[in-house]
Amino acid sequence: MDIQDYNGKAWDQLVARKDKWTVAVDADAIARARQGDLHIQLTSVKTAPREWFPDDLHGLKILCLASGGGQQGPLLAAVGADVTVLDYSEAQLAQDRLVAERENLDIATVRGDMRDLSCFADESFDLVVNPCSNVFVQDVLPVWREASRVLKPGGILLAGFLNPLIFLFDLADYENGKLTVRHKIPYADINDLPEAELKALLLDDNKPVCFGHTLYDQLQGQCEAGLAITGFYEDSMGEEDPLTGIIDVLITTRAVKLPG
Ligand SMILES: C[S@@+](CC[C@H](N)C(=O)[O-])C[C@H]1O[C@@H](n2cnc3c(N)ncnc32)[C@H](O)[C@@H]1O
Repeated sequence: MDIQDYNGKAWDQLVARKDKWTVAVDADAIARARQGDLHIQLTSVKTAPREWFPDDLHGLKILCLASGGGQQGPLLAAVGADVTVLDYSEAQLAQDRLVAERENLDIATVRGDMRDLSCFADESFDLVVNPCSNVFVQDVLPVWREASRVLKPGGILLAGFLNPLIFLFDLADYENGKLTVRHKIPYADINDLPEAELKALLLDDNKPVCFGHTLYDQLQGQCEAGLAITGFYEDSMGEEDPLTGIIDVLITTRAVKLPG
């Protein structure tokens, strides 16, 4: 099975089901952004601090990485940035084009894998915005290496990702609010689920295949790619998540590409 291809199609279906990660921003949010009131979500509930972004975003080259869905890209275009959105799901990219057309914004959309940004030259972006998405790729280190390569020295990477502890638990129990430790980290649906459960996930539920990366790969992986982490916050998955109130399971980092 080509995991990437499967996951791209699974995301197309999530768009059809109006999953919360696929709902585009409305006209009010764009109007507020046009007035300089910018709220970019990289996780589930909180928005990234405004001071994490350069003061003046006008004309800056921004790559919204694995960021389809009509959210981060259109808002950043509305404040005047030169935005490219890369995603593997055609339907997610169509959401960005829809908002761009509705709001008269210029956004380039590119279908591609977040681990291979060879369609972009070295040092071509001022900012890379990567909302929570590396849970859908088997190996996260190429994501950091490629994000770093396409950033200009001094450029900024803002990334949201999952604390892997969420993958310790049995999923069926978890969805019923019960925390049963079952797996170890690193975790991969394709390796760690018994065949019948994996088949149900793929064939019955059409859910994207997930990977729980170590915090070492998430944090040290950025450092080894030449990025210096300068900011960090945690977020919950929202009121209905069984771990909310116990521990925040989403992480966001701000990192700056070191020169040389
Ligand atoms: C949770 S959504 C995050 C983006 C969305 N704008 C948001 O903030 O809700 C995850 C995105 O990652 C994309 N994705 C999954 N695997 C990918 C890959 N290998 N390369 C690029 N995008 C990928 C999905 O299509 C989806 O749009």
